[in-house]
Amino acid sequence: MKIRFEPFGVSGQVKQNTTVLQAAIEFGVKIESFCAGRGTCGKCKVIASEGLSAPTVMELKKLTEEELRKGYRLACQAVITSDVVVTVPEESRIAQINILAEGMAQGSVQMEPWVRRHILRVPAATLQNQVADLQNVMRTWNEHHGGELKFTLSALRQLPFALRERDGHIALVLADDQVVHIEAGDGPEHILGIAFDIGTTTVVGYLMDLESGERLAVSSLLNPQTRYGADVVSRILFSIENESGLQILQHEILEALNKIIANTTHAAGVAPENIYGMTVVGNTTMYHLFLGISPAALGRMPYVPAVSATLCLTAKDLGIAIHPEAHIWVLPNIAGWVGADTVGVILATDLPNHEDTALAIDIGTNGEMVMGSRRRLVACSTAAGPAFEGAHLSCGMRAAEGAIDAVSIDGDVRWHTIGESAPKGICGSGLVDLVAEMLRAGIIDARGAMQDGQALRANGQGHLAERILQNGGQREFLLVSSTESAIGRPIKVTQRDVRELQLAKGAIRAGVQILMKELGIGPEEVRRVYLAGAFGNYIRPESALTIGLMPRFPNAKIVPVGNAAGAGARMALLSISARERAARIPDQVEYLELSGRPDFQEEFAEAMLF
Ligand code: FES
Repeated sequence: MKIRFEPFGVSGQVKQNTTVLQAAIEFGVKIESFCAGRGTCGKCKVIASEGLSAPTVMELKKLTEEELRKGYRLACQAVITSDVVVTVPEESRIAQINILAEGMAQGSVQMEPWVRRHILRVPAATLQNQVADLQNVMRTWNEHHGGELKFTLSALRQLPFALRERDGHIALVLADDQVVHIEAGDGPEHILGIAFDIGTTTVVGYLMDLESGERLAVSSLLNPQTRYGADVVSRILFSIENESGLQILQHEILEALNKIIANTTHAAGVAPENIYGMTVVGNTTMYHLFLGISPAALGRMPYVPAVSATLCLTAKDLGIAIHPEAHIWVLPNIAGWVGADTVGVILATDLPNHEDTALAIDIGTNGEMVMGSRRRLVACSTAAGPAFEGAHLSCGMRAAEGAIDAVSIDGDVRWHTIGESAPKGICGSGLVDLVAEMLRAGIIDARGAMQDGQALRANGQGHLAERILQNGGQREFLLVSSTESAIGRPIKVTQRDVRELQLAKGAIRAGVQILMKELGIGPEEVRRVYLAGAFGNYIRPESALTIGLMPRFPNAKIVPVGNAAGAGARMALLSISARERAARIPDQVEYLELSGRPDFQEEFAEAMLF
C-alpha cells in the first residue's frame, strides 16, 4: 500500500496495520504527537477522504462532528487500509519553535579549561642515549611541568611520526591528565569544546574556543525524540513498550547532537576534529536516553534513576562526531525528577554561595525549583502538566511562529504572536497572560469559573460579553475570530483550558510553598527569584504573580536568566573548578519528594485558586 503526504509530496510503501503516524515517522514527515500516539492529545490531525480504517472511539471523542465530516482523522488512530493521500494541516505540523539559546553569560567563570595544548621540544635520541620516544617525551614533560601523564593508544600511535617530523617540536593536546592527540609543530589550529543542553523539547549546543573562552557558534534543534512523545513520561513509555525503543531514542538524540556539531563547526569555519572536550546537561530522563541506559525506573515508584553520577566518557564510546578521544563530561543528576539541567542552573546562578535566600525555578511540563542559600538548599519537582507548553489545550501550541504569546484586555482584546504572523494557537506564556487579563477584567473569578455573558453585560462589559460562547455545556472565551486566525477556525480558550492552567500553576505554587515551609521562611525573606528556561524568559512576571504562579516576594528581585542550564554546561566546559563544583552540587542539595508529603495536597488545593 502506498501513502502520500501532502503538501510535502513525500510518499512511500507501508505494511498492513500501519497507522498514518507510524508512516509519517518512517518517512520523516513531522506531525505533532504530544501523547505519543495514545489518542488523548488530539494534536495529530490529518485529512483524508478514503483509504483509512473507520474512526476509532478516541477519534469520535477528540474530533468535532464538523471535522469528521471534513475528513479529519487522528494520525495515530487511523490505520492505512489502501492507497491513500493524506494532507497534514498547518496546525498539526511540528513547527520550528522558538528555542532559547541565550541566557546568562558565563562571565562569572574564570578560564581554567581542562583541555589544553602544550608545546614541547623533545631532544632527539642518540646512539649514546637510546631512549624510547615515550620515555623521552615524559622526561621533557617532567623537566617543564612535572606530574604524571597518561596517553591514549591513538596518541601513542601518532607519537613516532610527530616526533620526527619537526625535529622533536610537538604539540600535546591534553584532556584532563590524558594526552588525547599529538601533532608535529604547534598542533591543531584550534582547541575547541562544545557544551550541550539536552531538553525534552529542544537541544542547544554552544561551540567554544577553549583557549580564548570565546563563543564561536550556537545551534539548536527541536529534540527529534519529540515525535515519540512530547514529554518525558511518553518517552519513558516508548522506551519500555517498544523492543528497540531505547535504541531509537538514543540514536535520535545522538544524531541531533552530531547535526548541531556539524552546524556550529560549519558556521565557525573550524574542524569538528578540533573539538577535544564536551559537556552535557539535561533532565534525568534525557541523561539516561543520551547514554542508552533504560529510564524505566524513573517512571514508577520510587522514581529512582539507574545512574546519577558525573560521568566521563569518550566521543568514540558514544559515536559523537568530534575528536574520537575527546572527553565527554555528563553532569550529575540530583534525583529522578531533578536532573543535570537543574545542576546547570544552580551552577550558573551560584546558589550554593548566596548569602541571602534565593529561588531558582525552571518551568516546563515539570517545574523544577531550588530554594535556599549557602547554608541550606532544598529542591523539588512538580508535575505541572502540559498547559505551560501549550499541549492539551483546545487551541494550544508550542512557542512557535504564529503562537499568541501575549494578551492584553483593556477595553478591547489585543494579542501578539511570535513572528508577528497570523495566529495559529496560544502558547504557555500567552495563556498565562490571557488568564491574568481575564481575572483583572472579571471574566473569570477567583475559583477560575468563567462568567456568563449576562453578568458581564450587567457590569457594563458588553464588548467582552460577546466573546463568551457556550459550547457543549462549557463556556469558552473567543480570543481570535476565524477570519483573523491562520487556521480557518476561531482560537478560543475553554473553561477546561483554564482548569488545566489552574492545575499547572497550583502544582508550581504548592512546590514553592513547601520549599519555604521546609526552610522555615516567609516570602519576605526571599531576595532573588531566578526564572530559568524559555517559559520563564517569555512570561510577564506581573502576569505570573497575578495568576498566583508564585507568591508575591516583596523584597525579591525577579531575574529572568534564560537558558541557565546551558550557561552551566558552558561553565563546566571552560573551567575545571566549575565542573568540580557541579559534581558536588547533588551532595549540597536536599531533594524533597512531594508525593510523599501529606501537606502537598493541601497546599495544592489552595494554590489552585486565583
Ligand atoms: S492523539 Fe494522536 S498523537 Fe496524540
